[in-house]
Amino acid sequence: RLEKIWLAIGIAMLFVFLGVIGVGAFAMGMQPPTGHHTIDPEKVSETYPFNNPGLEQVGENEYNAYMIAYAFGFNPAKMEVPLGATVHFQVTSPDVVHGFQITGTTVNLMAVPGEVNHYTYRFDKPGEYLVLCNEYCGAGHEFMATTIIVK
Ligand code: CUA
Repeated sequence: RLEKIWLAIGIAMLFVFLGVIGVGAFAMGMQPPTGHHTIDPEKVSETYPFNNPGLEQVGENEYNAYMIAYAFGFNPAKMEVPLGATVHFQVTSPDVVHGFQITGTTVNLMAVPGEVNHYTYRFDKPGEYLVLCNEYCGAGHEFMATTIIVK
C-alpha cells in the first residue's frame, strides 16, 4: 500500500519534470527569429549607436537605421531614405514593448526594452511610408507614428 503511494508520487514527479522541460522548450521556440543583442534600456539615449538615431551609411546605398520606439513616438521622428537603398533596421525601446511596422513593406519588428531587433529591407519604391506602433503600449499608443520618405 505504501509502495503504491510512492509509485504515484514518483509518476507525479515525472510528469512535473516533463512539464518543466516542455514549457522550457516552448519558451525557446518563442524566441524571435531575428538576431538580437542586449542593451540597458535606461541608457538607450547614451548608448552607441542609439545616442545618434537615424541613418548611418555603411556601404554604397546601404545604411544602418537606428530607431528608438518610446512612449509615445519614434526617434528619429522623420527619416529620408535614398531610393533603392538597403536599410538594416535596428530597433529598441527605453520603456515598454512597442511595435515597429512600416506599412506597405515586410518590416514588422517588436521594439523590446533591453533588446535590439534587426531587419533588412530594400526600398525600391519611392513615396511616403507610414511607420506605426502595433503593440498596445498605453494611453498614447494610437499617436505613435512617423514617416519614412523614400526618394
Ligand atoms: Cu507604442 Cu503602441
